[in-house]
Amino acid sequence: MKLITLFRLLYKKFFSKQESKYASFVLGEKIASLWYPKFTFSEYGKIWLENKDFFDFYEKYVGKSYRSADRKFFITSLLSLVDELPGDTAECGVFNGASSWLICNKFKNTDKVHHAFDSFEGLSSPLEIDGVYWQAGDLKATEDIAKRNLAEYKDKIEIYKGWIPETFNNVSSKKFCFVHIDVDLYQPTFDSLCFFYPKMVTGGLILCDDYGFTTCPGAKKAFDELMENKAEKIINVPSGQAFVIKK
Ligand SMILES: C[S@@+](CC[C@H](N)C(=O)[O-])C[C@H]1O[C@@H](n2cnc3c(N)ncnc32)[C@H](O)[C@@H]1O
Repeated sequence: MKLITLFRLLYKKFFSKQESKYASFVLGEKIASLWYPKFTFSEYGKIWLENKDFFDFYEKYVGKSYRSADRKFFITSLLSLVDELPGDTAECGVFNGASSWLICNKFKNTDKVHHAFDSFEGLSSPLEIDGVYWQAGDLKATEDIAKRNLAEYKDKIEIYKGWIPETFNNVSSKKFCFVHIDVDLYQPTFDSLCFFYPKMVTGGLILCDDYGFTTCPGAKKAFDELMENKAEKIINVPSGQAFVIKK
């Protein structure tokens, strides 16, 4: 960054009331790209970043790290695609319950049941295809915290503690309109998609949280393998998520 640009931005940030927000953004963008060139700030002025209700939810259930804010917000958008469909909802990989809360909140005035699956012992053992980023036991959350976070929807949710896919037998007779798969590794992603794909109603949506991350190569491989000969396309989005809509 040229020195003159730096001074101009600092002047705007501290002395020009009108331009200070934008100057802060540009300054942050320049500093971040110097420190970590692969990081891209995306565009200035996104309206969803001003959504107070969403960020109240986010800070309450996720906290002050905003790394998954775009993915959580995208869940709320996608849920509108299925809100007229029959069928229940499910989440594979619940952690503290933030995404399950969004799903339950969306359907709180319907008769849909949300089915939530988690070992509450963290990740199972990664395979070679999963690379080296994750270890067994990472992302361990407690069932008590998830239950506390989801308490207001306790009549609309079934939580199944245990390893995927063993716990899926609890819902073998159900149909689904929305399934969120967020288990980071090849095997549980494969098992979840294998189980839920045939149970989706037409128009139902399966969302994978981990598809577009170099840290989760196994999740991408599982989705690619299972969808290879299917009629539906995998829609890969810049947040790192991917989804399919059942035909
Ligand atoms: C990234 S976290 C889920 C985050 C959550 N979806 C959210 O939006 O906050 C991954 C979760 O998957 C669970 N998990 C991973 N592999 C599993 C398996 N084989 N069986 C059950 N749960 C598993 C972990 O215990 C962990 O809570």
